[in-house]
Amino acid sequence: MSHLSILLVFLALAFTGALSELCHPQDKQALLQIKKEFGNPDSLSSWIPTTDCCNENWFGVSCSTQTESYRVFWLKLYALNLPKPYPIPPSFGNLPYLKYLSISSTDNIVGPIPPTIAKLTMLRELTVKNTNLSGPIPHFLSQIKTLESIDLSFNKLSGNLPAWLPSLPNISSINFDSNSFSGTIPDSFGSFRKGFSLLSLSSNRLTGNIPTTFAKLDVEIVNLSANKLEGARL
Ligand SMILES: *[C@@H]1O[C@H](CO)[C@@H](O)[C@H](O)[C@H]1NC(C)=O
Ligand SMILES: *[C@@H]1O[C@H](CO)[C@@H](O)[C@H](O)[C@H]1NC(C)=O
Ligand SMILES: *[C@@H]1O[C@H](CO)[C@@H](O)[C@H](O)[C@H]1NC(C)=O
Repeated sequence: MSHLSILLVFLALAFTGALSELCHPQDKQALLQIKKEFGNPDSLSSWIPTTDCCNENWFGVSCSTQTESYRVFWLKLYALNLPKPYPIPPSFGNLPYLKYLSISSTDNIVGPIPPTIAKLTMLRELTVKNTNLSGPIPHFLSQIKTLESIDLSFNKLSGNLPAWLPSLPNISSINFDSNSFSGTIPDSFGSFRKGFSLLSLSSNRLTGNIPTTFAKLDVEIVNLSANKLEGARL
């Protein structure tokens, strides 16, 4: 073969190689940045830059066809065994097609929920569970109108429960168990819509009366145990 045809064959192979990678370059860049911001833990060693992030071999990553290309829509990270304490990497906000984000059972996650999470405007489920996450429930979460489920149980979160939660149009499950939330339960919590499945606020430092608005609440499971609430048990 001439040099020219060898070059052409090479170019053709390089081109098909690029085309056969399903991972969107922006998603790959965000994931690799997350890995770096988590201190390159061994638990993410399957996140190899030269491989396709949609090949089902990247730990916890799933892609699906959105619009015309594959995008990362599902991320389930657990037991990350981070080498030292890290906050949640801001780069999670650079995965705009995420519908499901779960980070759990990782002691070395510390600090508050980063504001970049508000960029995930398709997010339906947010789980950060069994970590050392701290700080309040930030108001910027109210911008994610698609949220259906929020599980922030078994962390070190504190502050008041946010009165805006029932204004998320599709919210149907909230689990804030085992944190350090304090203050009273907002009256608005009595207005979760019909079909709401779980409101779990157990093992916090909630005080005051259970709002009278709860009398009309139509929720499958309500758990207020292990707080400092007054009045009747539900
Ligand atoms: C949080 O950090 C403490 C030490 O600071 C550690 O003992 C604990 O296991 C960590 N994880 C959780 C989930 O609290
Ligand atoms: C709420 O759920 C309905 C039914 O699944 C859906 O059509 C609508 O787009 C959702 N709203 C938001 C803001 O995600
Ligand atoms: C309510 O929360 C307590 C304490 O976290 C737990 O032991 C109990 O099983 C929960 N009850 C229900 C019905 O989930």
